[in-house]
Order: sequence, then C-alpha cells, then structure tokens
Amino acid sequence: MGTDTTPPQLFFLLVVVLFHCIACFSDAGDTISVGQSLSVDDTRISKGSKFELGFFTGPASKIFLGSCHKNFDVKDIVWVANRENPLSDPSSLSLQLLDDGNLVLLESSSETPFWSTNLMYTLPNSTEAVILDDGNFVLRDGSNPSTIFWESFDHPTNVWLPGAKLGIDKITGKAKQFVSWKSSEDPAPGMYSFGLDPSGSSQFILQWNRSQVYWSTGVGNEKSFSLAPDMVINDLNFSFVSDEKESYLTYSVRNNSSRFMFVLEPSGQIQLLTWSDGPWNWTETWSRPESLSEVYALCGKFGVYQENFSNNPCACLEGFERLPTEDNVQDDWSGGCVRKSPLQCENGTHANGKKDWFLKIPNVRLPINPKAYPAANAKRCEFACMNGCSCPAYAHDSSGCMIWEGGLLNLQQLSDGRETGQDIYLRLAADERQSTKRNRWKVWLVAVLVPATGLISLCLCIYFSRKGKLKVQGGEVQEKATSIDILLFDFNTELSGMNDASYSEDNVRRIGTKDVELPLFSYESVSAATNNFSTENKLGRGGFGPVYKGELLNGEEIAMKMLSKRSGQGLEEFRNEATLIAKLQHRNLVRLLGCCIEHDEKILIYEYMPNKSLDFYLFDADPIKKKMLDWGTRMRIIEGVAQGLLYLHQYSRLRIIHRDLKPSNILLDGEMNPKISDFGMARIVGDNATHADTNRIVGTYGYMAPEYAMEGRYSIKSDVFSFGVLLLEIVSGKKNKGFNSNESFGLLIYAWELWREDRSLELMDLTIGYPPSTSEMLRFINIGLLCVQEKPADRPTMSDVVSMISNQHTPLPVPKQPAFTIGGGSSTDTNSTTSSAENCSINDVTVSIMEAR
Ligand SMILES: *[C@@H]1O[C@H](CO)[C@@H](O)[C@H](O)[C@H]1NC(C)=O
Ligand SMILES: *[C@@H]1O[C@H](CO)[C@@H](O)[C@H](O)[C@H]1NC(C)=O
Ligand SMILES: *[C@@H]1O[C@H](CO)[C@@H](O)[C@H](O)[C@H]1NC(C)=O
Ligand SMILES: *[C@@H]1O[C@H](CO)[C@@H](O)[C@H](O)[C@H]1NC(C)=O
Ligand SMILES: *[C@@H]1O[C@H](CO)[C@@H](O)[C@H](O)[C@H]1NC(C)=O
Ligand SMILES: *[C@@H]1O[C@H](CO)[C@@H](O)[C@H](O)[C@H]1NC(C)=O
Ligand SMILES: *[C@@H]1O[C@H](CO)[C@@H](O)[C@H](O)[C@H]1NC(C)=O
Ligand SMILES: *[C@@H]1O[C@H](CO)[C@@H](O)[C@H](O)[C@H]1NC(C)=O
Repeated sequence: MGTDTTPPQLFFLLVVVLFHCIACFSDAGDTISVGQSLSVDDTRISKGSKFELGFFTGPASKIFLGSCHKNFDVKDIVWVANRENPLSDPSSLSLQLLDDGNLVLLESSSETPFWSTNLMYTLPNSTEAVILDDGNFVLRDGSNPSTIFWESFDHPTNVWLPGAKLGIDKITGKAKQFVSWKSSEDPAPGMYSFGLDPSGSSQFILQWNRSQVYWSTGVGNEKSFSLAPDMVINDLNFSFVSDEKESYLTYSVRNNSSRFMFVLEPSGQIQLLTWSDGPWNWTETWSRPESLSEVYALCGKFGVYQENFSNNPCACLEGFERLPTEDNVQDDWSGGCVRKSPLQCENGTHANGKKDWFLKIPNVRLPINPKAYPAANAKRCEFACMNGCSCPAYAHDSSGCMIWEGGLLNLQQLSDGRETGQDIYLRLAADERQSTKRNRWKVWLVAVLVPATGLISLCLCIYFSRKGKLKVQGGEVQEKATSIDILLFDFNTELSGMNDASYSEDNVRRIGTKDVELPLFSYESVSAATNNFSTENKLGRGGFGPVYKGELLNGEEIAMKMLSKRSGQGLEEFRNEATLIAKLQHRNLVRLLGCCIEHDEKILIYEYMPNKSLDFYLFDADPIKKKMLDWGTRMRIIEGVAQGLLYLHQYSRLRIIHRDLKPSNILLDGEMNPKISDFGMARIVGDNATHADTNRIVGTYGYMAPEYAMEGRYSIKSDVFSFGVLLLEIVSGKKNKGFNSNESFGLLIYAWELWREDRSLELMDLTIGYPPSTSEMLRFINIGLLCVQEKPADRPTMSDVVSMISNQHTPLPVPKQPAFTIGGGSSTDTNSTTSSAENCSINDVTVSIMEAR
C-alpha cells in the first residue's frame, strides 16, 4: 500500500508519540495551588523528575493536556485529560485551579471548559494539584496530603501504570478501562478498549466498539490473577481486589530499577513495555492478541489483512480505496475502504445495463459473520448473492454456502506458501473489470457472469419495506421497485409482523383499492429457487398453469403457481387472487407468501403443502392411499374446510365467495390439515349483500349450485352447496360428477335415495372400515344433504354448519330433495375444457364455463 518508510516493528506498534512539549524545561515544581494556572508554556515535573505534566500538540494542531515520562529521548504520553475536546488556541488556553477546588481547562474565547475535574462539592482552599512520581496527577488537600479528591489514575486513557487500578467502581458503576488512541498521533478515543468484563465474570477483555470481544484473559483466580503471567512473574506483583466498593486489578514493580507500563495500542493490541537502559527506549516484552490478525476489524470494512506484510498489514480489497480519514492519518483503518465504482444494483436496477461480477480471491481466511446455508449448492449461492444488493461476497465449499451482508470484516489474505485458505468471490461493478487486469495480489481473475435482473413489467404486488415498494391502486402501477431475492427471504420472520392488522374490517373493505402488502420477488431468484423451473421441481399442472416446488437457501420449501400466458386467468384474476389472499389469514386457508411479475410471467408463491391435495387420496384407485384418510382425518378435513369457509363468509361485513370449492382445491399440510386454496375465482360481495349476479360463470361441474350454473346467481349459499358435495364425496370416497353414468349429480341422487330408504350407511367409503360411531356418520350425511338442497334459502349457512358439526346432540332438520340436475338435464360436459391433471397436487383442474347470457 503506502510509501511510508516506518520500520516494520514500529508501525502500529508503539505509542510513538512525536511528543512536542511546547515548553521544554521549567522548574516551576510539581504543584498548582488554588488560584494558580498553567499556560501553554508551563509544565509541572514530579519530585523525582519521573513524570511531567504539560500541553502537547496532536494532529491538525489540536492541543491536549497530558502527562508523560520525563527525561526520556522518546516522549511517551501516559495520560490525556481532554482527549475528546482538543484545545485550539495556544495563546489563550490555561489549566486553572479554581477557588472551589476544581481543575478546569479553558480558552478565553469560550465560556464552557474543555475539560474539568467536575467535582460537585467545594474543596478547602488548601487544595492543590500535584503530579506525583508514579505518574498519578492528583487533586489533594495540601494540609493533609493523604486526602485525595480526584486522581488521574481513576480516569485512565490508554496506558496502565504500576499502581493504577483496572476494574470497576461498584458504587457509580463506572468502568476504569483503557481506551486506545484513534491513531498513533491522535489521542481521541479509538475503537478498542480493555477492562474488566462488565457482565461480572472476573476476566479482563479486549473489545472492539465497546461491544465485540476479541480477546480475554480467561476467568482468573483472584489470588494469582495476572496479565502476562509467564513473562513478568519475577518483575511484577499483581493483586486483584474485590470488595463492596470496587473490583480492580493493580500491579507493582518489584525492582525499582526497571520501568514497566501496559499500553493499549491504536491497533487493538495490548502490550507490556519495559524500559531498559541498553538501547534507551521501550521494548515490547509481551502482547495480546499475539498476532494482529486476531484483532477485530483491524483493517475496517473491505480492508484485507495481509499476512505477509512488510510495513503495513492492511490494504484495501481489489476495487476498493481508502476512506479518507479526517486527519489523513496513516494507521487509522477504522473507516475501512469504500468501492471505487458503485454496483449496478446500488444505482437502480437498470442503471447502465452493465452487470456486476464476482472476482475470485483465492487463499483467504474468510470474513466473520457470514450467513450460512449448509444445503445450498454453488450456483444458487452465487445467485443469491448477486440478487441481493446488500451482499458483497459469497463463498462456497463442501459444507455449503456462505453469504455476507454489509461490509466485510476481518478478511485475511494468507501468504502464498500457506494453501490453507479458502476462496471468496467478491462482487464488483462492471467498471472494475478493466482495472483488475493489473492485479496486485497475483490472483486469478475469474469473472462469473450471471443473468442480469429483470425487465420492466407490470406489477400488482406491493412490498412496503426498507427494500422497496410498489404501489397498486385498482391495478395501476405507480412505481417500479427493486424486486427482492426469494432465496434469502425468511418468511417466518419477515412476514410475521406484516399481517397482524389484516383481520381488521377496515383493511378488508378496501381490498383491491387499498394498498396490499406482499413481497415481490425477482424472476431470477424465483427461477433459481426452482432450478430453472426444472421438471423434477414440477408438482403438477393446475387449471391456469404449472405448479413448481421451490427451495430457499435455508431449506424452506415453497410452492409456486405459474400462471401461463394463455391461461384463462388474466391479469384481473391474478390481481384478485393476490390482493385477496394477501389479506386472508386463517389456518384453513393456504397462505400466499408473495408473487413475481416479470418477464411476462405471473407467479404466485404459496406455502408448500407436502401432502398435496385431497383428491389425490380421496379418489385414488389405490386403497392404500385412500386408507390414509381414516375417519378421524376425514372429520378433521370436513371441520377444517367448514371453518375456513366460515372465515371467508363471515370474517367481515364483506363476504368472500370462493366459487370453486372442490377436493383438488383442498390442500393438505404435513399433518393432513386441510387448507383451502385457489382464490382465482373468488368474489367479494358488499356489506349486506348475500348474493350477486354474473354473466361470466366460472366453476367446476359437479360442485356448482344449480342457481349459479344456470342463472349466474352466486352467493354464500352456492359455496355451501359446493361444501355439501365435498362433504358427501369425503364420506363416500366417490366423485359426484361421473358417478353412476354421466349425471352431474349422480352422487347426490344416490345419497338421497339411500337416505330416504334409511340405508345411508351404505354410502360410506368402504376403506374407512367400520365407522367409530354410526350416528356421527349419519349426522355428517344429514348435514351434507342439507347443504345441497335445491333452494338456496333452505341450505344452512356455514355458521349453522359449524355449529351442527360441533354440537353433536342437537337434532338436525330433515333435508329436502337435493338439486339433481343443472339446466334441464342436457349435458354440458362436452363444452367444458378439462385440463387433464388427475395427479396434480396444487390447484388442480378448474373447468371454466363461459356463458354469455
Ligand atoms: C482558607 O480558609 C480559612 C478558613 O476556612 C481562612 O482562615 C484562610 O485565611 C484561608 N486561606 C486563604 C489563603 O485564603
Ligand atoms: C459501534 O456501535 C454503535 C452502537 O453501539 C453503532 O451505532 C456503530 O455503528 C458501531 N460502529 C461500527 C463501526 O460498527
Ligand atoms: C505484592 O503486593 C501486595 C499488595 O500490594 C503485597 O502485600 C505483597 O507483599 C507483594 N508481594 C511481593 C512479593 O512483593
Ligand atoms: C534490580 O535490577 C538490577 C538491574 O536490573 C539488578 O542489578 C538488581 O540486582 C535488582 N535488584 C533486585 C532486588 O532484584
Ligand atoms: C521502590 O520505590 C518506592 C517509591 O517509589 C519505595 O517506596 C520503595 O521502597 C522502593 N523499593 C525498592 C525495592 O527499592
Ligand atoms: C528502540 O529499540 C529498538 C530495538 O529494540 C531499535 O531498533 C530502535 O531504533 C530504538 N528506537 C530508538 C528511538 O532508539
Ligand atoms: C512472504 O512470502 C514469501 C513467499 O511468498 C516468503 O518467501 C517470505 O518468507 C514471506 N515473508 C514473511 C515475512 O513471511
Ligand atoms: C449512478 O451512479 C453514478 C455515479 O456514481 C451517478 O452519477 C448517478 O447519478 C447514479 N444514477 C442513479 C440513477 O442513481
């Protein structure tokens, strides 16, 4: 990186303070008394000439009050008073001991002190401030020197001298800890601190940003507690004290002819320095962490630690440059690095058509805090990273996929000789492709191209979040947003807060006109989740198009209903379904998770139902499959569907009429609980309306109520009719349509005849075996027959049905004859277009009759 010529050992290493004591010599003694002051030219020197108090100049002509060892060639500042508030005007500054006994640091131009001892009570007029031979600067009673009001040892900066305390004041809760300088020249508080573990364990910890622990002493035995145990056992005497008032560690030097101090370096290392007479300077005898590579965030965001460095361990990653620091200090890397060219995605999806790419950086120790996805393959891993703008890099190995977010911290380039590292793929803007040809780290450039995201397309889904939003009002697209990556989406956490309010009636009333919240996913990510819509991911083919199973990086499974372009379900139905289901939440309704409208495709994303749909079991010729539906399961399914339907009909003053209830639209979850799906034909009817008319009749033969099929009158009672058919089908295991000749309602006729002859039990599906309770079985058949009565007014509502199911002992009404035929008996079957999909799992066949009246 740099051109600086600092010897390697010194870079980052010492408190190489180019200490510039403004006054070089003074014999003004060691004391400041009340009323006296210290100007920029003055200093105070301790009795034994060991320490000196005075002003010094840091970077950018900032002036600080501090103390340092005296009489050394190398000046080393051990304490700084005003590290957060530097002085600027040398002519008007002074340190004053006021009449009330407080020490204050003032400039004549400013009323407020830059620094003060800030004692709240008045001290005697015999108070004096003294710099002592152990380096402690104290405020004490001159007539009684053992009474100390304030001492600099209680307010340490980055140096721990013998006799000073490292720990915590239990009364005020204030920690006595060391905080590094910002850089070797700037005493402002840096990112690193060292002190007693605030959580209460008796260990001392090094932290980054006051929160991230990167080294600790381990829990100490209070008697023998020490830092640097091996090195200093003969030189230093540590003692750990813990009482009601405070807990602290302190140390003394056994042989006064040597000097020691611990320094927390700007680099985040804690070092023990010893003054030895030989070379006349401080030498480092111990340091932790031993290697700079273990210091947290040493090189900042997007900085890389280079193991084999000559004078500067930090560099910026390819395509990044140093964030200029305030004072342009060489060794302050806390800001890290920034991109030279913005990524495509940062600049809007279609900024310039140039695609971001990935640069392979081999043999690195990976950055910290990746999101790990053990199951994901390399392709999907790359994809997931490319598709989310917050992802700067990914890595993939045999254990799976790792994806980072935000800035990369602690990335380490291992030296060529050590092939123990991994490869990381760094995302770069297209503009960086040229400049990386001259490659400084001798890495191989591997550009990985991935498909660019998206074309502009209509969007009906709206995603209100930090990530971008679409607003739809009555179908009009108002704004194009960046669609998000489904692979990285966590439906459990990200959606949980979203639907909380959706039960309120206000929301529902505005379905279709009010903004609806639904995540909008990019086509590319949806495609990646389904392995490019591969055939092995295909679950089946519904009435409107194929259904695929998708898998997210975290292993969660989802179902995607792809609406084919030629399908009967046009934009209107799509919008209808999306906006409607987004607002519906009930455990017996299938949950819509999001959608995707890009590349001329309309895709709905649902929760995945591992057990497919009811018809898959109910009508299968294989008795083993049928047997999976024992009587208990069938009852549960009937009850669940009834609950789901009741919710639709009654969940607000508005009523939602499903219009296409049938076994293939009843999906089953892992525990065979039913969930109603396919709301493509659902309609909302107004506040008090219970029915509506249409001249576009859609539905499925065999399940449509006669008044709807013939006159286009649909109502909640037409759903009740469909429910009745469904119930009888579940009990009998037979299809209504196609049962016994081509009659549309063959099953109903059969059931009715058995009922009249009191032989209803014969209707029962033989695979159920002997029913646990015949009265229960008869009750269900009775309810089914009530639901399919000819006149809508005779049929019960869903709330009646639910209460009939749950109150087993209330007598039921006697059913009237059901509707046997639709429209004069002439078969309209041949008109219907039947998609062949008996084995389909989600959103099965929908037969639509379009009939202009
Ligand atoms: C200090 O205060 C005492 C009384 O509290 C007074 O007698 C004495 O004169 C004062 N000394 C000075 C130097 O002000
Ligand atoms: C340090 O922590 C604070 C909150 O504790 C946070 O706001 C800040 O962003 C952190 N700094 C960095 C560089 O991460
Ligand atoms: C170590 O320090 C403690 C407390 O300051 C003192 O009691 C003890 O005698 C010292 N031990 C040695 C060997 O100097
Ligand atoms: C103190 O150190 C000096 C030189 O380092 C040595 O000559 C002397 O013997 C030591 N004194 C004791 C008591 O260890
Ligand atoms: C070390 O110095 C302190 C004062 O600084 C003194 O009290 C102590 O007796 C000295 N110890 C030795 C062994 O010289
Ligand atoms: C300090 O000592 C080291 C050897 O330990 C030496 O390389 C360096 O030049 C010395 N620095 C000064 C300022 O004397
Ligand atoms: C740096 O790496 C080279 C090989 O790439 C090796 O020869 C050299 O010894 C290494 N230097 C250090 C200080 O590790
Ligand atoms: C894209 O980035 C360039 C360069 O940073 C900037 O000038 C331009 O305004 C950006 N465009 C958009 C749409 O943000």
